[in-house]
Amino acid sequence: MKKNILITGGAGFIGSHVVRLFVNQYPDYQIINLDALTYAGNLENLRDIADKPNYTFEKADICDIEAVERIFAQYRPEGVIHLAAESHVDRSITDPLSFVRTNVLGTVNLLNAFKNIWKGNFEGKRFYHVSTDEVFGSLGETGFFTESTPYDPQSPYSASKASSDHFVRAYANTYHMPVVISNCSNNYGPNHFPEKLIPLVIHNIKNRKPIPVYGKGDNVRDWLYVIDHARAIDVIFHQGNLGETYNIGGLNEKQNIEVVRTLCRIMDEKLGRQPGESEQLISFVTDRPGHDHRYAIDASKLTGTLPWKPSVTFEEGIEKTVVWYLENEEWLNNVTSGEYLKYYETMYSGR
Ligand code: NAD
Ligand code: DAU
Repeated sequence: MKKNILITGGAGFIGSHVVRLFVNQYPDYQIINLDALTYAGNLENLRDIADKPNYTFEKADICDIEAVERIFAQYRPEGVIHLAAESHVDRSITDPLSFVRTNVLGTVNLLNAFKNIWKGNFEGKRFYHVSTDEVFGSLGETGFFTESTPYDPQSPYSASKASSDHFVRAYANTYHMPVVISNCSNNYGPNHFPEKLIPLVIHNIKNRKPIPVYGKGDNVRDWLYVIDHARAIDVIFHQGNLGETYNIGGLNEKQNIEVVRTLCRIMDEKLGRQPGESEQLISFVTDRPGHDHRYAIDASKLTGTLPWKPSVTFEEGIEKTVVWYLENEEWLNNVTSGEYLKYYETMYSGR
């Protein structure tokens, strides 16, 4: 009998890399991808594995209790990897409630569904909650987030993710649920939705549009290539200790302006433009309200206790990323035009 593993948010940026890795690496698992296909969900991300026999897609909203209960009753997943979320900080500032709904209520629905099917018989089961370093708040010029850094979320997005982390721990404490949590730094790489900094800058440079840099561009993010995050999720899901938290990061702190200038340089080379041409598109704009200054992850617990380390440097990863976007013009055009929203109808009409 195949083991059923339910992955939520598998049509999104990170989720699609996790689904692909699990489908390809574990033929003995049946991978069920549960995703509502919001604006951020794109099944084209999974075109290459959509027909594999160990892959199943279920279109459902994690806030829809009936749908979640039906899916849990049908598949009885022994493992859950929960990535579905509203993920964009800027959107959380204009519409906080949708973040509370999906990130808090949706997570609690999944916890309840998992608890209700296994009824305390949690032997061999695991609920893995994928979270973010933003729950720890903002750092000054020095220091790192460790697993014991107190939570201090500063945006509606990070407050909703912090709340979901608390619920996951509360379910472990109260109902002895077998949970594991990871908190990762900023990801980048293929299939990143072009509302986020790196794909947005690539898109704007390509189309000679202004590059909006918030404030002075001196905020610092700690970047990790998305496939390395997916590899870490695989290792933690299989070998992480239950009840524990792992920070994930690649020690790649960069100021935003440095990331933007790097992208300008690589794109000038790849597009055959004059050196310095794309930098002229940089436009300093009004800062994000409550903008966290700096994130930096201490991932030594993960690297010291489990077999994981990043496979690429930032320089290698950012080059691969630019190449991917230039080679996948259709993906980017479909996302920016909204055309990708039709993919589900084409692939799954009649379901
Ligand atoms: P994303 O926005 O690209 O994808 C989110 C996915 O969840 C989409 O496929 C969307 O359709 C789905 N979804 C949203 N609401 C849903 C709902 N109510 N029901 C079912 N599905 C729903 O997000 P991402 O960047 O891939 O992030 C995935 C997870 O990783 C999130 O939990 C996020 O907090 C976390 N995370 C992201 C980063 C990062 O840099 N992107 C870093 C650390 C942690
Ligand atoms: O740290 C992990 C988090 O990283 C994840 O939990 C979030 O889901 C993910 O979206 C990301 O959050 P950020 O807010 O750091 O990512 P974003 O790409 O939106 O912004 C990165 C930095 O770039 C941030 O300091 C804001 C700045 N920025 C962003 C955009 C979109 C700009 O200067 N201009 C922009 O147009």
